[in-house]
Amino acid sequence: MISLSFILSLALVPFAFAQNNTQLQIEAIEAHFSNAGLVPSLLTTFVPEAELVLDFTGVGSITPGQALSKTQVAPAPSVLITPANSSVTLDGSFTLAMIDADIVGTDETEGQTRHWLVNGVTLSGSSPLNASTESATTITNYAGPGPAAGSGAHRYVVLLYTQPSTFSAPDGLNAPGAPVEKFVFTDYVKNSGLGPLVAATYFTVEEGTATVTVSSTAAVVSSTLPAVTASGSSSSASGSVSSSSAAPSATGNNSGAMSSKIMSPAVVFVAFALGFFLG
Ligand SMILES: *[C@@H]1O[C@H](CO)[C@@H](O)[C@H](O)[C@H]1NC(C)=O
Ligand SMILES: *[C@@H]1O[C@H](CO)[C@@H](O)[C@H](O)[C@H]1NC(C)=O
Ligand SMILES: *[C@@H]1O[C@H](CO)[C@@H](O)[C@H](O)[C@H]1NC(C)=O
Ligand SMILES: *[C@@H]1O[C@H](CO)[C@@H](O)[C@H](O)[C@H]1NC(C)=O
Repeated sequence: MISLSFILSLALVPFAFAQNNTQLQIEAIEAHFSNAGLVPSLLTTFVPEAELVLDFTGVGSITPGQALSKTQVAPAPSVLITPANSSVTLDGSFTLAMIDADIVGTDETEGQTRHWLVNGVTLSGSSPLNASTESATTITNYAGPGPAAGSGAHRYVVLLYTQPSTFSAPDGLNAPGAPVEKFVFTDYVKNSGLGPLVAATYFTVEEGTATVTVSSTAAVVSSTLPAVTASGSSSSASGSVSSSSAAPSATGNNSGAMSSKIMSPAVVFVAFALGFFLG
């Protein structure tokens, strides 16, 4: 007997195979960016064409929004890039940046602290590609996060932009040696002609106990995220800042959009399971 659920699961097969794990991870990163308020306050839109994973010595690959200590993120990470699918080609030059977008709720129009800025990055190797800074122009050397004690969980955002041949670095940021300082990152991107944004991720670092009020976000429910590893389970909730007393903020609004995106593979799986057992 062919049950309805079996037919339903067959109907969903193409969707299950159309999305591979990288695409699910990219959707998870998008959800984390909305959830943490980085979209729309820092980036008005965020449609990555690749997954960006940071790999810190002694820590390994981190998950989006993972809470890390100053010590863990003191050395520069490897920046590993996996295209969404085989039709995404990533050759040419890229600009890599790490900026401190501060706590959730920060007015990003006031700027961000620059922790890393490298022009002329190339991607080498394969599966994943490695964003090599070796023959690139490092404008600001990697400077590990050092948020002030009590200032809350700062969001450190690492972004990889396409650097077209028309790219023109602004004064003060056109040669190595630019210090760690505040700049308006989106102005830099716009004025220098960077783009599009290829991939990004973020992590948080907090020093001491927050004495500031941090806007809350709805937590990303780790069980609904695809392929979350054991080490990532504590981290996936860190897209939300751990101040449960704070009032729900506008960014909490995004959680619905997030879960509907993330849930779809789970729905497919459940349909499969039903089809298998009932069919
Ligand atoms: C490949 O990924 C890009 C970026 O996410 C997307 O725009 C495009 O539609 C995808 N192509 C296929 C064939 O899935
Ligand atoms: C899955 O994504 C990776 C990432 O680039 C891609 O190389 C691979 O071709 C994709 N696999 C399928 C079956 O689409
Ligand atoms: C990636 O390239 C950097 C040099 O830019 C190198 O230090 C690092 O070891 C490489 N990482 C991996 C995982 O290959
Ligand atoms: C909440 O989401 C709705 C629909 O996506 C949107 O129209 C509205 O502006 C959002 N509200 C806030 C406060 O972000």
